[in-house]
Amino acid sequence: MQKRRVGILISGRGSNMQSLVAAMRRPGFPAEPVIVVSNRPEAAGLEWARGQGIAVHAIDHKQYANRMAFEARLHQALLDAQVDLICNAGFMRMLTGGFVDRWMDRQLNIHPSLLPAFPGLDTHQRVLDQGALITGATVHFIRTEMDAGPIVAQTAVPVMPNDSADTLAARVLEAEHRLYPHALELVATGQVSVRDERVVMAAPVGRVPTLMWPPLG
Ligand code: GAR
Repeated sequence: MQKRRVGILISGRGSNMQSLVAAMRRPGFPAEPVIVVSNRPEAAGLEWARGQGIAVHAIDHKQYANRMAFEARLHQALLDAQVDLICNAGFMRMLTGGFVDRWMDRQLNIHPSLLPAFPGLDTHQRVLDQGALITGATVHFIRTEMDAGPIVAQTAVPVMPNDSADTLAARVLEAEHRLYPHALELVATGQVSVRDERVVMAAPVGRVPTLMWPPLG
């Protein structure tokens, strides 16, 4: 099977990018990383990607007159790299309808909560403030609303009694690193499609155990 060509968008350290690249480097994975783009030239993740021999681009949004001009440049870089699928991995820039439409159902995002709960920033602190006992992470197709769009995969993570936002973020991040490659594989192999703004799986799924937290004694 022809590997899907993946472009990864980052804004910072890029640990999700690293987990995606590591997965794509495994034999038989149905996708390959062809370009990494950051809207922040100082993003630590760029250096790592360069070291991996992946083409990297810094497209600094501050250098463009408006969102459309920035997105036109981003779009062209992705076209030049012949990208099939985009993975936003800690890419902290809202995208307008023009860009989202061009990559409709071909652009994924990861967010560190069980969407539609807790979209936006300061996710983990808000989870703690609300007293939620289970949180998690979500991979979804991009739409113009922040952290919204058809959900491809989710993972549940327990909140521990003495968690701070940082300890919770670290536990969720570990789960993100497993979830995102799994979701990318589902999309790259065509096992999921979008119908009426919902993701449908091509094959039936078996039963899985329920996560109960706190666990039954
Ligand atoms: C990740 O936790 C990701 O889920 C989150 O930013 C972090 C990026 O870390 N994304 C969002 O909050 C999007 N709304 P990383 O750069 O190490 O992958």
